[in-house]
Amino acid sequence: MTSSSLQILSDTEQDCAKAASVLRDGGLVAFPTETVYGLGADACNDTAVARIFESKGRPSFNPLIVHFPDVEAARAHVDWTDAAEDLAHAFWPGPLTFVLPRRAGSPISRLVSAGLNTLAIRVPAHPTAQTLLRAFGGPVAAPSANRSGQISPTKAAHVVDGLGDRVDAVLDGGACPVGLESTIVGLSDHPVLLRPGGVTEDQLAEVLGHHIAIRKNADAISSPGQLASHYAPDARVRLNATEWLPNEARLGFGDVECDLNLSEKEDLVEAAAHLFDYMHQLDATGATTIAVTPIPHHGLGIAINDRLTRAAAPRDDYSR
Ligand code: TXA
Ligand code: MG
Repeated sequence: MTSSSLQILSDTEQDCAKAASVLRDGGLVAFPTETVYGLGADACNDTAVARIFESKGRPSFNPLIVHFPDVEAARAHVDWTDAAEDLAHAFWPGPLTFVLPRRAGSPISRLVSAGLNTLAIRVPAHPTAQTLLRAFGGPVAAPSANRSGQISPTKAAHVVDGLGDRVDAVLDGGACPVGLESTIVGLSDHPVLLRPGGVTEDQLAEVLGHHIAIRKNADAISSPGQLASHYAPDARVRLNATEWLPNEARLGFGDVECDLNLSEKEDLVEAAAHLFDYMHQLDATGATTIAVTPIPHHGLGIAINDRLTRAAAPRDDYSR
């Protein structure tokens, strides 16, 4: 493929229809969701799904989330549960992913779930994602649209910088409003939080009527995306900085002097929306270390700290 084959598309209905035809031809389309940009392929086309792994340089055991325009389309592929019904009613479309047993006979490629007997499913709310999914008319497998081990993209330009002509088309729908990946809950048995994200533990507990169990790191095999160094920039990351050291790129929160401030007014929603963009920007300065001030550990702060801790983890080359 040559670089001239990368199409940058707008978020109009006409361009979403073009993107849908790229998917139908087995191509890869990066598209905005309310969380981060996804790298989409026809979930029923083995070759197209394989191209996702190839273009991300992702270890092939890491399964993908499948995206649908509505609950009816999603539930046809899994064994649905009462908890799924309640959570879908409360949070779909939105930044929440369910892991459920895969229904026998689902035409979704086995490669999507990397050999597991479960499927991760999500109905995104972003209007451009919705228009694309409806125009395509089938399930779309999509991981975040970054090279494996790099920070997730929250703008079309991040996708172009990271993947370039490894993707056939990019739908530019502006900045992603949530800015953090979806929350993942395992629902095959008792609900378990597999990855913190855009929907908080408290919001889940309110709907479930009880606190949700949190998956321990020891079970990492069931959600390999939890690999410790999954979200690494090139720079080292120093957490909980209470003072700045010379030559560090300074990422702040609250009333501090810094290079970029996640939220001067200490708003965790605003901080989440800025997190990956600011990490991209500070990494691009070439600084060897990005230092980050403490982020409160409640609400969306739990997901922000999860991503920052991964970015700061010792590098494991296998996962990058
Ligand atoms: O917000 C999001 O979730 C974005 C947008 C594009 O939807 N997607 C995203 O995908 O973050 P990705 O591939 O970067 O992360 C998907 C996570 C991985 O940690 C993967 O291991 C987990 O979902 N996952 C997928 N299928 C699974 C399954 N069957 N069982 C357990 N974990 C699964
Ligand atoms: Mg990812």
